[in-house]
Amino acid sequence: MITNAVVPVAGLGTRLLPATKSQPKEMLPVGKRPVVQYVVEELARNGISRILLITGPGKTSIENHFDVDPVLIRHLRETNKEELLAELEFERADVRFFYTRQKMQRGLGDAVLHAEEFAGHEPFAVALGDSIIGRHAQSLALSHMKEVYLAQPCAAVVAFEEVAADQVQHYGIADPATPPGDGEAFMIRDLIEKPDPAEAPSRLAVAARYIFSERIFAALRETRPGKGGEIQLTDAIRLLIRGGERVLGVKLPPGERRYDIGNFESYFKAFLDFALFDPEYGPELREYARGLLGEGR
Ligand code: G1P
Repeated sequence: MITNAVVPVAGLGTRLLPATKSQPKEMLPVGKRPVVQYVVEELARNGISRILLITGPGKTSIENHFDVDPVLIRHLRETNKEELLAELEFERADVRFFYTRQKMQRGLGDAVLHAEEFAGHEPFAVALGDSIIGRHAQSLALSHMKEVYLAQPCAAVVAFEEVAADQVQHYGIADPATPPGDGEAFMIRDLIEKPDPAEAPSRLAVAARYIFSERIFAALRETRPGKGGEIQLTDAIRLLIRGGERVLGVKLPPGERRYDIGNFESYFKAFLDFALFDPEYGPELREYARGLLGEGR
């Protein structure tokens, strides 16, 4: 059973300024909910019951968001807005939260290293706090990754999504050793963080979800600063492979996308997608968008 997950949320979000000047990017709304709420709901849906958030300066609104807020609840009751209590149901999810702060901004690998005591000797999931998987986070991809991990000996299972050739420099890219079929796990021979398109071994991009054995921590301790001068999680996985460990990849199922909130282009796309297909507001919004796009364009 894999019931622990680590959610790094310490990144500064500089690519989303000014929106992120005084609020974390993980708290930006995509449709009705902040990004990190989708991530937590996805984890809960996939059997995770303990979540460690790796935070940093300016991230306390994330902690507040997952607290039960009796003052707000009382206010809604007293002002006859009880129907809004349904919007706070997520506070009751069967999940325990843990928080720790990354001391310095030394990269994603360093952030994950802060989870060592939390994870203990158990395998655990990592879900990047600025990426939603599947529309409205309905994805069961993580459950599939857990099954893959438990079915065959390996040190890590990593989620992948195929991206356009001009996008490979934004992601960790796999060199698959076996064919990456839909639904089937494949072996990874190498993993390169944000390669130039000319040097990318494939278009298979790391899609923000991972399962690790505790052996990732030893690899992270050995990992020297890489791309951007940061300790890269990708480089630690690479060390595992070089040390003879098996690392497996799983492609997100067809129809499930990774929504990356790290830059405005992908954030706007995610917002548009979630709003246009919101169960309540979607039909009206699609009508509005059709009118807008039809106007003199
Ligand atoms: C991180 C990882 C990268 C991965 C990406 C999306 O990059 O370093 O390998 O492909 O997340 O999952 P970041 O978006 O933090 O720059």
